[in-house]
Amino acid sequence: MNKKIVSFEGFEYSGKSTQIKLLKNYLNKNKIKSTFTREPGGHKQLEKIRKIILNSNYDNLTLILFFFACRFALLSKLKLNNLIVFDRYFDSTYAYQKYTLKDKKLILSLINQIDKKFIPKITFYFKINKKTLVQRKKIVGERNNFDKKYYSQFSRIQKNYEDIGKINFDNRKFITIDANRDKELIHNEILLNLKKWKLIK
Ligand code: TYD
Repeated sequence: MNKKIVSFEGFEYSGKSTQIKLLKNYLNKNKIKSTFTREPGGHKQLEKIRKIILNSNYDNLTLILFFFACRFALLSKLKLNNLIVFDRYFDSTYAYQKYTLKDKKLILSLINQIDKKFIPKITFYFKINKKTLVQRKKIVGERNNFDKKYYSQFSRIQKNYEDIGKINFDNRKFITIDANRDKELIHNEILLNLKKWKLIK
């Protein structure tokens, strides 16, 4: 089966949402059928849980289990015929909720429970530097408890992203995007990769 799943990952303010919008416009213009989803949430009921989680103060283990519970609920609703674009997926849990070896083991074993047909073919990881982060945060501001909580943990989260990028999950390609650059350049790089790996024509 030619799996057509792609996920977008990165720290807040990395420009991931902007790129998802640009991609959506491109696909619509070119009449390419696609499904866009996001985590946590991505489905009517689950969007309610999103609000609760993102404004919560739950401990880390609770968060890991919440994120995966929402994830499996979302996957059970997904139809696999179109190109599917995830705004955050399992790499986010590894990046944000992995502190200890115990966390790592738990998160990897939960990822292992995901059916291979739902493992992305490509993950775009938006990597920004601290300077860009500080500039963009000044403009955009904080949006929820999570923005506040994790902002000071930028280096840990960035490192976790890099670590999970090295792990093989059904040969998915983990592509690091230099997210400090101009948005049009990044958009083109994304389209080139989607074409190269045959997710779009
Ligand atoms: P984000 O996707 O950046 O949405 P917005 O652009 O509306 O702020 O925010 C989601 C937050 O949830 C972000 O802080 C990362 C966090 N998150 C985790 O900590 N673990 C996860 O598994 C997921 C999916 C998200």
